[in-house]
Amino acid sequence: MPATPASAVVDTDAIAASVAVCAAAASTAQVMAVVKADGYGHGLVPSAVAALRGGASWLGVAQVSEALALRAAGVDAPLLSWLHAPGGPMAAAVEADVDLGIGAGWALTEAVAAARETGRTARVHLKVDTGLNRNGVPDAELDDVLDALAKAQAEESVEVVGLFTHFAWADEPDNPTIDAQLAAFRDALARAERRGIVPQLRHAANSAATLTRPDAHFDLVRPGIACYGLTPIPGLAFGLRPAMTLRAQVALTKRVAAGGGVSYGHQWHAARDTTVALVPLGYADGIPRNATNVGAMQLGGVRRTVAGRVCMDQLLLDVGDDPVAAGDEVTVFGPGDDGEPTAQDWAETLGTISYEIVTRVGARVPRTYPQEET
Ligand SMILES: Cc1ncc(COP(=O)(O)O)c(C=O)c1O
Repeated sequence: MPATPASAVVDTDAIAASVAVCAAAASTAQVMAVVKADGYGHGLVPSAVAALRGGASWLGVAQVSEALALRAAGVDAPLLSWLHAPGGPMAAAVEADVDLGIGAGWALTEAVAAARETGRTARVHLKVDTGLNRNGVPDAELDDVLDALAKAQAEESVEVVGLFTHFAWADEPDNPTIDAQLAAFRDALARAERRGIVPQLRHAANSAATLTRPDAHFDLVRPGIACYGLTPIPGLAFGLRPAMTLRAQVALTKRVAAGGGVSYGHQWHAARDTTVALVPLGYADGIPRNATNVGAMQLGGVRRTVAGRVCMDQLLLDVGDDPVAAGDEVTVFGPGDDGEPTAQDWAETLGTISYEIVTRVGARVPRTYPQEET
């Protein structure tokens, strides 16, 4: 008997194969698989292990807590954490051999302090803002931060392992911002070099740039979404295979007479006498509330539409007169092999991106790993 009424089945072979697709595209550049946000919802440690099996030699996360969780699980691959707030656990990161992304002057100051506190050299990657205008050192502050970095390097409180940037619009491979950001990145590298800072790893490419822009590969690429088999550019598949299948069991069925209203606020009324099937997944489990009346799931070999409001823990599907029963399996999304929607289909229906569909699958939904059970 299943212990929970729903689960997210994660195909770790699909993760390994999709990382291999990225590695082939990256050619001689190394691959840093991005496993932040619980491996984009697929599970931090199993995703990391599968990505390393698929050919990644580095792992990337946003927060130090994520990096420390990987280390606690015994993952000893090179690891970069790039998003910090003042007063964060940089010393713990340095102790755990986690490289620090430095995206602001204060972060460099704190990395130097962490090195002094631990008596070790902090391994850092300077993040340069070349036009995203998000995390990273902006052009106006770059010379000052590079001066401070050169000083810290000379004192051996830091080792500058990398210099990196992140694109604003790589999902449009011809977008002119990509060329502009590459030019700004090369300029930043030259300014660093003039100060004697020559990082071994220059990196810029997310999934989209890994798969479409060889001129952005440099020494290492940082794919995230593609590692989970989801395309960064809708309409292009790249040979990726979606790794997550979200499933649930029908909890009950009931007949609703023509004209009957269903779920909170009666946002849906039966057009004819029909059966609705209760699915024990709601917005607390990551099914967006605005899937009300539009989301589709596979049940009994047919795509069925959500009938009425998505609630916190449950929703209903209209199944007509089909012989659906409690215990039947519902597939919310998967690789699409059996006609079920994909996370990309969900994203398109709801006006979002597949990233949001997979990362928001709630903590109450256990991730299961069939390949790891043998
Ligand atoms: C700095 C950085 N690099 C790489 C990635 C991976 O991006 P994607 O999932 O689009 O490949 C992210 C994700 O947002 C990121 O923040």
